[in-house]
Amino acid sequence: MDYQKILESIAEEVKPLVKKGKVADYIPALAKVDINQFAMSVITIDGAEFHTGDTKMNFSIQSISKVFTFALAFRELQDRIWSRVGREPSGNPFNSLIQLEKENGIPRNPFINAGALVITDMLFDIADNPRQKLLETIKLLSGGADISYNKLIAESERANGFRNAALANFLKSHQNIKHDIEEVLNLYFCHCSIEMNTRELAKSFLFLANGGVNPEDNHQILTLSQSKRLNAMMTTCGSYDEAGDFAFRVGLPGKSGVGGGIAAVIPGKLAVAVWSPGLNAKGNSLAGIKALELFTTKTGVSVF
Ligand code: DON
Repeated sequence: MDYQKILESIAEEVKPLVKKGKVADYIPALAKVDINQFAMSVITIDGAEFHTGDTKMNFSIQSISKVFTFALAFRELQDRIWSRVGREPSGNPFNSLIQLEKENGIPRNPFINAGALVITDMLFDIADNPRQKLLETIKLLSGGADISYNKLIAESERANGFRNAALANFLKSHQNIKHDIEEVLNLYFCHCSIEMNTRELAKSFLFLANGGVNPEDNHQILTLSQSKRLNAMMTTCGSYDEAGDFAFRVGLPGKSGVGGGIAAVIPGKLAVAVWSPGLNAKGNSLAGIKALELFTTKTGVSVF
């Protein structure tokens, strides 16, 4: 399979879409990002790499960070997490408050904002310095890249994150946030503001294509069963109320973020990361979803 040729033809085909989306503007610091950018990286579990576009550009990974926070919590706390968060798609926007009241403060899944806040709260139980632990884990997964978060973006979101603050307070009223709300929100905004490029992102998702084991150093991040389950959750909940359409069009476990990134895996084969900051109405990258759809169509692979 000539992945390089496929990536180049995809980059050409999605060009007209790149400018058509809308950058996330509810986080003021993200509203300034130039919409006219596209990058895509494929890395196989054998270490072969293929890239096209602005693959050296760092972008805000936003909700894609929830895969890493969830992986850490799942590894350390195992099935104990399920008393505090569900594993059903929400069918609602990622920042919705509506189900939480009817469902006793138990978020539907770890990828919507409410669920991710609960997972962030759990990180304080598994590490003295959860921020450092998270950054070190991602650094290890990405093959030693210099991973950091963007303080300006984190602060910009903190200053405007009224919905997340409301969710955190409501969760606390149900005792589903154990730690200090300010600390939990700060860590949440910090992990959302982590910056990576598509190469680093594809690399750090490879363990999910390889049964939970980082193929580069054979380090076991998750058990085979946990890795399969995380992939199942990305398939059903990874792109919020667009997860059905994503499965229909792309057919891979994947996770999106409002920075315009999407990371996905083909179990047993490869990880793929795409970035284009223009979003569709559901908050997912417009050109990014199309690029992944073209990738599975042109390669003929899918988990289905
Ligand atoms: O909490 C938020 O709203 C953002 N930090 C993350 C949202 C996000 O990336 C949803 N993705 N599509």
